[in-house]
Amino acid sequence: MNPVAVSFNLREATESDRPAINAIYATLGFMPWDPGQDQLLVAVAADRLVGCGRLHRYEGAVELGGMYVHPDFRGQAIARKILESLVDLLGAEVCYCIPFDHLVPFYEQFGFVACSEESLPAVIEEKVAFFRDVYLHPTILMVRH
Ligand SMILES: CC(C)(COP(=O)(O)OP(=O)(O)OC[C@H]1O[C@@H](n2cnc3c(N)ncnc32)[C@H](O)[C@@H]1OP(=O)(O)O)[C@@H](O)C(=O)NCCC(=O)NCCS
Repeated sequence: MNPVAVSFNLREATESDRPAINAIYATLGFMPWDPGQDQLLVAVAADRLVGCGRLHRYEGAVELGGMYVHPDFRGQAIARKILESLVDLLGAEVCYCIPFDHLVPFYEQFGFVACSEESLPAVIEEKVAFFRDVYLHPTILMVRH
């Protein structure tokens, strides 16, 4: 945990953020940001992009993901603020999320619950299988109604 709380703002990502975001996502093995499809929020501290998260809008399904905070800025509730704002954007929309297992209690605080892999939208089913193949760390399928 960082001893000094940092001041940061959240805003919608713009085209000029795209290279920085996609460089981060490439290192994490996340899909690149597609502004036409994703609503992406960035956390900015002193003009520096320190965190992000997105709503990925597929045809027939929404997935919350792409959560990232720079290591120097972790433990200061930046991810919490990003998640809170993404959930506000969601309103009552059904939304899936496939976090690493250690983050399940965090997502539960925002109404996500672990769910069965039966009767999923095809794109989410594919995502679950993809994550299982790509990440060494276990992921858990969750949904928010
Ligand atoms: C996960 C990540 C976004 C958290 O960012 P952060 O700004 O440090 O998180 P916050 O300070 O807002 O903490 C939010 C909550 O998550 C929990 N959390 C954060 N990292 C955790 C970890 N490694 N294990 C368990 N819980 C964790 C915190 O305890 C906190 O919950 P609490 O307030 O109930 O204690 C950041 O560590 C990161 O970018 N990791 C690498 C990318 C990644 O794993 N993304 C998530 C993919 S599912």
